[in-house]
Amino acid sequence: MQSFLEKLRIGVPLFLAPMAGVTDMPFRQICRDFGAELSYSEFVSSEGVIQNNRKTLRYMMFQENERPVGIQIFGHDPEVLANAAAFIEKTFHPDLIDLNFGCPVPKVVKKGAGSAVLKDLERLRDIASAVSSAVTLPVTAKIRSGWDENHGVIPQIAPVLEESGIQLVTLHPRTTLMRYKGRADWTLIRQLKENTRLPVIGNGDIRTAGDALRMMDETGCDGVMVGRGALGNPWLLSQIKAALTGTAIPENPSPKEKMDLMSQHFRKVVKFYGPEQGYKIFKSHISWYTKGLPHGTTFRQKANMCSSVHEMEAVIASYQTLLKELSEG
Ligand SMILES: Cc1cc2nc3c(=O)[nH]c(=O)nc-3n(C[C@H](O)[C@H](O)[C@H](O)COP(=O)(O)O)c2cc1C
Repeated sequence: MQSFLEKLRIGVPLFLAPMAGVTDMPFRQICRDFGAELSYSEFVSSEGVIQNNRKTLRYMMFQENERPVGIQIFGHDPEVLANAAAFIEKTFHPDLIDLNFGCPVPKVVKKGAGSAVLKDLERLRDIASAVSSAVTLPVTAKIRSGWDENHGVIPQIAPVLEESGIQLVTLHPRTTLMRYKGRADWTLIRQLKENTRLPVIGNGDIRTAGDALRMMDETGCDGVMVGRGALGNPWLLSQIKAALTGTAIPENPSPKEKMDLMSQHFRKVVKFYGPEQGYKIFKSHISWYTKGLPHGTTFRQKANMCSSVHEMEAVIASYQTLLKELSEG
């Protein structure tokens, strides 16, 4: 029988993590080119979806060449989530709907959404069942390991997910209260894998190809998901893909290669958001791409002060020239 990943035409189980404010269409396309086999929209509010909020609708746009792609939703009310999922299926036709049970941001958990749902597994069951019944698309879930260390949900969440129609689970094994501090506890990925028949995707603290191999090996997970490691560093995906397929791992790019890609990314962002918004949105990517590069601090300061797309184009071009000169000695 075909596995869930095979049905989605995923050969190498390498996923790009959903990241609000980051995994927009331009970034997803770049990461796909480097080897991500499944990516997700930034999370979208189920309330925003049913209210037809314009910004929310933009978050869900994707292009055919991005498939397979998932749209991730969050919320508290099973009926609202189910209606949102049905609308998304009909309007956007993604390959799957992912339920966010992992967001630790106070604005979200205060409303009983995101990882707050982990505090009440019966509500989680109701949400997952309502959404699974409302759509024909596969429904997956992304979870943390619990609210805090005294309220872990691994492994008791496994039957709840299975019985409510979830078809794949991604675990970021930090608690809500940890947010992004401390270390992801990969032993919990192993525990979940040993207690469920669902495919388990491991997530958290993968920064190198070696980390990805180690996670697969130590936990037995069915695939890996990479988030922060890919920021300003989408090449990591090609290195992980090579490691997972047993081929030669590509070298890290040179500063000049990094800047050439950054400049392509910049053009995509400006095209997607328009010149007014595009250069502002790109500032955080600049700080990620240039971390550790020669004269990076000065370049970042100049980029941060730009007040138009043209200024930013000029600042990027002059930094590219500087790096070229440095590389030619
Ligand atoms: C800026 C940022 C935004 C994020 N937004 C989301 C989101 O919208 N949905 C989600 O499920 N997780 C979100 N996450 C969590 C990541 O998907 C991932 O679980 C987490 O960063 C751990 O993986 P990593 O160590 O590879 O980054 C976000 C993380 C970051 C850093």
